[in-house]
Amino acid sequence: MLLKDAALSVREKAYAPYSNFKVGAAIRATSGQVFSGCNVENVAYPEGTCAEAGAIAAMVAAGEQELAEVYVVASSPQPVPPCGGCRQKLAEFGKRDVKVTLATIDGLELETTIGQLLPGAFDASHMEGT
Ligand code: THU
Repeated sequence: MLLKDAALSVREKAYAPYSNFKVGAAIRATSGQVFSGCNVENVAYPEGTCAEAGAIAAMVAAGEQELAEVYVVASSPQPVPPCGGCRQKLAEFGKRDVKVTLATIDGLELETTIGQLLPGAFDASHMEGT
């Protein structure tokens, strides 16, 4: 399945009554399996849970822990960059060179990588020797 199609499709299911900003994310795990997630807001924490976090949670719940590719789509004029927390989550499960495509529903695409989204990421190697 194309990540783009999966992301566009799940975006329509987003629950975003506070921001009215629907986001869809699809990820391919290294096994080849595709997982998707949408943003889910709530009244106490209106920013809710991001689409990327939802897709990662689905992947982990299915027993996979390694990202191979990521696609994020929203209805913004420009491709929306993932929030800081999502960048850290992507870096947790994907290598620096993993391709991340940020897109708009109009078809504008910006290609980047996990490493470019979170340069100098903190990782387990920084705790060595403690
Ligand atoms: N949002 C995402 O789901 N992913 C992003 O990359 C950017 C922002 C959501 C969170 C919230 O529901 C809404 O967009 C506005 O911040």
